[in-house]
Amino acid sequence: MEVVIADEYTLAELAADAIERLVRTESAPVIGLATGSSPLRIYDELTTRHKNEGLSFAHAQAFMLDEYVGIADDHPQRYRNVIDTEIASRVDFAEGAVHGPDGSAEDLAAASADYERNIAEAGGIDLQILGIGTDGHVAFNEPGSSLASRTRVKSLTHQTRIDNARFFDGDVEQVPKLCLTQGLGTIMDAKHLLLVATGGNKAEAVHQMIEGPISAMWPATVLQMHPHVTVLLDDASASRL
Ligand code: GLP
Repeated sequence: MEVVIADEYTLAELAADAIERLVRTESAPVIGLATGSSPLRIYDELTTRHKNEGLSFAHAQAFMLDEYVGIADDHPQRYRNVIDTEIASRVDFAEGAVHGPDGSAEDLAAASADYERNIAEAGGIDLQILGIGTDGHVAFNEPGSSLASRTRVKSLTHQTRIDNARFFDGDVEQVPKLCLTQGLGTIMDAKHLLLVATGGNKAEAVHQMIEGPISAMWPATVLQMHPHVTVLLDDASASRL
């Protein structure tokens, strides 16, 4: 595990550097996109490089980590809409190149299996951007998730719903209770994992992820088993290391 501690702007540049290298060298790069506030500076940096330096995503595909179930198609917090707003519509991905789990499918188990198949057909994910929840969740793999899990329906913990209420007018009741999420096994199949965490509220989860015993109770600890992980931290999130 490579751990870098720097200010937020430097972290975003380092992450964008890794993505740029992939996109400029591979003929069919596959990027894993995360939602949440952590990757937003990375998306801003990629957008700037697209506009100013001609960084193109026209030959790339992207796969989202997760999606709420039971949220209106046009809700701004539907993850598909968040990804469109924050990155997909700001750069030049080809039509249909950005994929997400179908949280509005009638058969969620079938939608999960389809999503796994889509990722496999694209040749797997080259570089997966990740954030981490305060309870150590990755994507929406909450504590207790199988470390070998695949894309499936999960219920959100009350803590995650409280954490995400800030995106729903501060009202926890508006935060969906279910989601579709890539499993930890799915995420571990990506060739390079790039996790970004900032702020003191992530310090305990970061400490467990890097220094704790591998346990389903801290899902991010599974990253210790991956051969190529880059962890990007600010001083506050690294304060318990
Ligand atoms: C959300 C997402 C995760 C994200 C995490 C942290 O619930 N499903 O993919 O990494 O929580 O979010 P943030 O970056 O806003 O702290």
